[in-house]
Amino acid sequence: NKTVFGGGNPEAKIMFVGEAPGADEDRIGQPFVGRSGHLLDKMLQAVGLDRTKVYITNVLPWRPPGNRTPTDGEIAVCLPFLKRQIDLINPEVIMVLGGSAANALLENMEPISRLRGKWLEYKKSDGGIVNVLASFHPAYLLRNSAQKAKAWSDFMRLCQKIMQ
Ligand code: URA
Repeated sequence: NKTVFGGGNPEAKIMFVGEAPGADEDRIGQPFVGRSGHLLDKMLQAVGLDRTKVYITNVLPWRPPGNRTPTDGEIAVCLPFLKRQIDLINPEVIMVLGGSAANALLENMEPISRLRGKWLEYKKSDGGIVNVLASFHPAYLLRNSAQKAKAWSDFMRLCQKIMQ
């Protein structure tokens, strides 16, 4: 129903990139406003952040029917818009949420279990490097609460980087 563009502070140093809008986001037109978004807000709050201090977007601005994982073709069509958003927001760090977003932005096929928790690099169109940290998608954490401790350490690492 709606194009879900990014939300939050366009001057932010920290940018979050999710996969695609879900049903709630598609209805409201804002990223991460459903159950996953609620958990994301709580995680942000736990490290002293909120949506006035970060920018949040998705690889796809449209909801894939039935919440299925975006196809390679859909990602290829939408990636230039995400890349342009990164150029315009010019964040100091990016956190990618979930394997699908991590693989899309980093253009690799590594499983999220191997990518998460490590500093990786994204090259902007001007050649500048942005540090990227991958973490689990909040929807995954809602189903696997035992993994929340790892996500917590990822958020701590993110904050340490921004305070350097
Ligand atoms: N999941 C996402 O990846 N993005 C949203 O905006 C909401 C849920």
